[in-house]
Amino acid sequence: MSIPIHEYDAVVVGAGLAGLAAARELKHAGKSVVVLTKLHPLRSHSGAAQGGINASFAKDDSTELHEFDTVKGSDYLADQDAVEFMCETAPELVRWMEKMGAVFSRNEDGTIAQRPFGGQSHPRACFAKDRTGLTLLQTMFEQTNRLGVDFLDEWYVADIIYEEGIVKGVVAYDIKTSEPAIFNAKAVMFATGGYGRAFKINSNAHANTGDALSIVARHGLPLEDMEFVQFHPTGLAGTGILMSEAARGEGGKLINSEGERFMSKYAPSKMELGPRDLVSRSITQEVLEGRGVGPDKDAVYLDLTHLGEEKIMERLPELRDLAITFLGLDMVKEPIMIAATAHYSMGGVPVNIAGNVKKNATEHVKGFYAAGECACVSVHGANRLGANSVLEAPLFGRHVGRTMAKEIDNLELHKVDVSCADRMVAEIKMLLENSGSETIPGLRSELQASMTENAGVFRTEESLLKQKRLITEYRARYKNIRIDDKSNVYNTDLQEAIEFGHIIDYAAFIVEGALLRKESRGAHFRNDYDSRDDENFLKHTFAYMNEEGEIKTEYTDVTLGKFVPEARTY
Ligand code: FUM
Repeated sequence: MSIPIHEYDAVVVGAGLAGLAAARELKHAGKSVVVLTKLHPLRSHSGAAQGGINASFAKDDSTELHEFDTVKGSDYLADQDAVEFMCETAPELVRWMEKMGAVFSRNEDGTIAQRPFGGQSHPRACFAKDRTGLTLLQTMFEQTNRLGVDFLDEWYVADIIYEEGIVKGVVAYDIKTSEPAIFNAKAVMFATGGYGRAFKINSNAHANTGDALSIVARHGLPLEDMEFVQFHPTGLAGTGILMSEAARGEGGKLINSEGERFMSKYAPSKMELGPRDLVSRSITQEVLEGRGVGPDKDAVYLDLTHLGEEKIMERLPELRDLAITFLGLDMVKEPIMIAATAHYSMGGVPVNIAGNVKKNATEHVKGFYAAGECACVSVHGANRLGANSVLEAPLFGRHVGRTMAKEIDNLELHKVDVSCADRMVAEIKMLLENSGSETIPGLRSELQASMTENAGVFRTEESLLKQKRLITEYRARYKNIRIDDKSNVYNTDLQEAIEFGHIIDYAAFIVEGALLRKESRGAHFRNDYDSRDDENFLKHTFAYMNEEGEIKTEYTDVTLGKFVPEARTY
């Protein structure tokens, strides 16, 4: 087969805030760069982030308080050197975005408005109504276009070219035509987003299938802290669509079927503005104890009626629209119904602050970088604070782009040949030619439902062992799939089949990490080990997959700093 080989200084995979910020920096530094993305850039999931981006601007706020809230929120698993870098850079990053054209909501005096978010000591989330991510994404997209960055939209990256400890490029195909191509580069960056699609109820875009994680893991490289999956407290009942934390930041109340504002039992000082892990567990507990609302009694009320129409339209117009469209409930007139929804991936491809992908605890892979939700740097540890992800993505994306621009001068273009595409070509051939009895939508729904049930907000040894057995079963059944569309044009059946293979692989990492972590920390809650165990588990999980899909796990040290682990109460 004749496969074109394109040469670049840098390939960036993913066009959300992290990927675009990196591409801008690379181009700005005079490097040739292409962004490969399976969607149009403006459909990237960064655009779905509603509530805000954190920066300590207020007079009585400080970088140190932002750091402390982040480290406490992470249940002390965050690496404090990375947190310090993020929080110190945040105000300058927000100004940088503003100077490039991002229009933030303002106070009467013209300063950038900031709203309170959960688990934070100060109103710190700068926002653009409830469309913050979209505003920033549009700004970054304009800037990359202004500089002339090359974009290939609707291209699916299926593999990295990884030989002799060096990443030499990626292998991809054009979703529109199924034509393959090789992108040979001195440096490759993954910025492909999170893995919430492993769960049935989630707030993630359909595209968030965690491809990068499994591509990396299939080459024997590690994944870090995969067991930490954040459940956002307020997803629309039934669908899990995000109802921003901004709703609680603006004064939203959570109420159970008995009319009780139940957060007073779980977080008496912070109430609805407790951290996400705590609020999600509280909502789920209310439901499990029979105080849920809605036809299936599996939700609670989020009441915003006291805010009034003017404030809702000024601050939360998109949320109002979404609740009307998907639930038929108008938050101006009545409470809406919400429940916890899989939202954010704290784990990912391990990287250092500069963005170099780690080969193990001490070495990194030459020519390979990652940033944003697919990476684990780790600034969020076991639980992320709201509005720290919209910060992390452009901040580390920009920083990693700058690192790459410097390092590229000392990196070679290692020439590759068409055999690099063999693995992708074989995978596609198998999926197109297989004529088994399983279908991807059927298998995927089963896996997602079982992950929510057995590896969701509450976990036990029994539920996780069950899920581990199920994943082995899904893996076997995947070999017996059939896709009906055999065409070359927009073959989304084929794409979904490849993506599902990725979901199975990284779901195994989530479950294995959760099984071995016999403690409760942040978003990982074990009913059978319900407290934090710093003696044994103040550690990052580094896990590796072998050819049979078995996961081998080891632990590495957390980078501590000025904040000594203490009991985490709100
Ligand atoms: O609730 C939200 O607006 C989501 C923001 C975030 O995940 O940081």
